[in-house]
Amino acid sequence: MVDIQQGAAINPTPIETYLADETETVAFGKCLGLALRDYAPNAKQALVVFLEGDLGAGKTTSTRGLLQAFGHSGPVKSPTYTLVEPYEFDSARVYHFDLYRLGDPEELEYMGIRDYFTAQSVCVVEWPSRGMGVLPEADLRLKVTTEAPGRRASVEACSAVGIAVLEGMRTEV
Ligand SMILES: Nc1ncnc2c1ncn2[C@@H]1O[C@H](COP(=O)(O)OP(=O)(O)OP(=O)(O)O)[C@@H](O)[C@H]1O
Ligand SMILES: [Mg+2]
Repeated sequence: MVDIQQGAAINPTPIETYLADETETVAFGKCLGLALRDYAPNAKQALVVFLEGDLGAGKTTSTRGLLQAFGHSGPVKSPTYTLVEPYEFDSARVYHFDLYRLGDPEELEYMGIRDYFTAQSVCVVEWPSRGMGVLPEADLRLKVTTEAPGRRASVEACSAVGIAVLEGMRTEV
């Protein structure tokens, strides 16, 4: 257990791995999802995950795995035009955002962004850079980069809650 108040590391080692194919990306996303699912009932506020990486890096693929951890089994399409897709589970609500086409961060205010970032919700955000200034801070960042023929992925914690989830994820990978 990392004790932040005692001044211990607030940024423990990220989880990093090479993902040989799409199946491994889904599996990696699922490991993160399992840790989020286990933590969500205890969360006092939304769990926020930023998904970073270039076009086609594997952010939506990772989200598919994350959603599978909660019990979702269908396809996952990126909500590029609607900006957010909601998923309801017994343990939590997961909101999958894709802000690629967001013109201005203020549009998030008009869509009532605060209603999504509540306790027992997990907010997964592709292209969070588009919402800078309005989006809440991330608890975790999942980064995916192309490393032919596969991908390199990392998950890092950005808050005390993120550290707890990351430690949970370490037991899954
Ligand atoms: N580890 C991997 N190795 C090779 N290809 C992969 C891997 N993981 C995912 N892919 C492939 O990468 C492609 C793009 O994935 P995805 O749609 O998840 O990207 P994205 O980051 O969400 O892109 P966008 O920014 O456009 O939303 C898909 O065809 C998927 O099969
Ligand atoms: Mg995507």
